Amino acid sequence: MSERRRANGADLADQRATIRRRIDELAPWFHNIDLNGIPTAPDHPLNNYPTWKWRRFAHAVPEDLSGRTVLDIGCNAGFYALEMKRRGADLVVGIDEDERYLSQARLAAEVTGLEVEFRQLSVYDVARLGRRFDLGMFMGVLYHLRHPLLALDLIHEHVADDLVLFQTMQRGSEVVWELEEDYGFWNGSIFHYAGFPAMYFIEQRYAGDPSNWWIPNRACAEAMLRSAGFEILQHPEDEVYLCRRAPAPSMRPAPPALRQPHPDDAMTARRHNGPE
Ligand SMILES: C[S@@+](CC[C@H](N)C(=O)[O-])C[C@H]1O[C@@H](n2cnc3c(N)ncnc32)[C@H](O)[C@@H]1O
Repeated sequence: MSERRRANGADLADQRATIRRRIDELAPWFHNIDLNGIPTAPDHPLNNYPTWKWRRFAHAVPEDLSGRTVLDIGCNAGFYALEMKRRGADLVVGIDEDERYLSQARLAAEVTGLEVEFRQLSVYDVARLGRRFDLGMFMGVLYHLRHPLLALDLIHEHVADDLVLFQTMQRGSEVVWELEEDYGFWNGSIFHYAGFPAMYFIEQRYAGDPSNWWIPNRACAEAMLRSAGFEILQHPEDEVYLCRRAPAPSMRPAPPALRQPHPDDAMTARRHNGPE
């Protein structure tokens, strides 16, 4: 072996060792991503997640996203955000409230050489982004929220422009019932039908995870999407829906604009209340 080839081999081995060390420093990973041949979560309990999940609905997402903007809400280590960049999106922004997951996402973007902007932001604060996106992704987050419908309303109100890809864990019945617009007060029987929208409240834990709060059945997931103003275009996988933003239903009240007071709010409050 020539001196040069030996040196190149040593460089590559160094690079791999550095990537492996950085992966380990940020463990544990939920997304198993291939970083230069090194898997970030080889022992994932859901196997090679989310690659196998993505393969089941990748066909529903436009192959060519050039000229389009994407927002991945609850992006975790950025698996889907990176896939959207691979499809040529002009701008991909990933947000998550967990800074450790965002550090994983930044490492994955660096190693894969894909340009994605990652920001620490809760779905409840999407108004702060101050712009809309052609494709919104809201995958695997709804059931982790104490206020799931508020999150959907805020996405509709502030950031969704056209398509929204949505996924939620679902439990209970898979039957979807064609609902009447109204039912009489004494009609309690509807609540016993499997196809009626229902959401299960998890007071303690589900699957050992205290961040699981509300798990809808299929009828409920679909009804919530419609109620927040999302038309369901496709249901390519059991838990996944491709939606289009539609006008908000007239009965849906406008959600509050921002969760926490903005610095300007204090000035506004002073203007209204007068000096202290
Ligand atoms: C089950 S993971 C799903 C990750 C990814 N979207 C996917 O489908 O593989 C849930 C992610 O949502 C994030 N998350 C939970 N609550 C959130 C919130 N209020 N705002 C933004 N992200 C949140 C978690 O930090 C976590 O990364």
